[in-house]
Amino acid sequence: MKLGVLISGRGSNLEALLDARKRGELPRADFVLVLSNVAEARGLEIARAHDIPTCVVAHSAYRRDRAGHDRAVIDELRRGECEALILAGYMRIIGAEFVKAFPRGIINIHPSLLPSFPGLHAQKQAIEWGAKISGCTVHFVDEGMDNGPIILQKSVPVVQDDDEESLATRILEQEHKAIVEAVKLLSEERLRIVGRKVIIE
Ligand code: GRF
Repeated sequence: MKLGVLISGRGSNLEALLDARKRGELPRADFVLVLSNVAEARGLEIARAHDIPTCVVAHSAYRRDRAGHDRAVIDELRRGECEALILAGYMRIIGAEFVKAFPRGIINIHPSLLPSFPGLHAQKQAIEWGAKISGCTVHFVDEGMDNGPIILQKSVPVVQDDDEESLATRILEQEHKAIVEAVKLLSEERLRIVGRKVIIE
């Protein structure tokens, strides 16, 4: 399956995927393009180091025109022949047209056990709520924010003296495992959506 990965920054989830691919753990996943909305994203360097084509569609060039930015991104992803997409720290909400353009699937990783703590600073939200367990979720993307059918989740305990950074670090370790597992299932076409549920075949 030809996959595009969308990023906005650090790219550690992208790196986990590319390293897994290198180790032979993702034989059906062909990473054809890494696209960022931020030119300085460190993840772009990671992609280049793995010889993956990269592309930048800066959102700053589309002020007050989110649909226009989405369209430019979709064009680049089509040009790169992406069949399905991984949002790995892509800090943009994507519109309904975008979702429709990739019917084979768009997946996202989020640092909480959804539906708890959607949106920004999910780890801080979990700490401030007093949650004892948080974690990460990989889910299909629909028109809602952090909303689509859940593929898999991994739990992480919240300890008494956790701050946003310490919890984020422990969750990130699990994210790197979860995203590889989910992309393996996606690329092997073993995921079927039934209503809100994802059946793993
Ligand atoms: C991760 O915590 C991910 O769950 C969230 O954004 C962060 C991206 O980190 N959506 P990285 O760029 O993959 O290192």
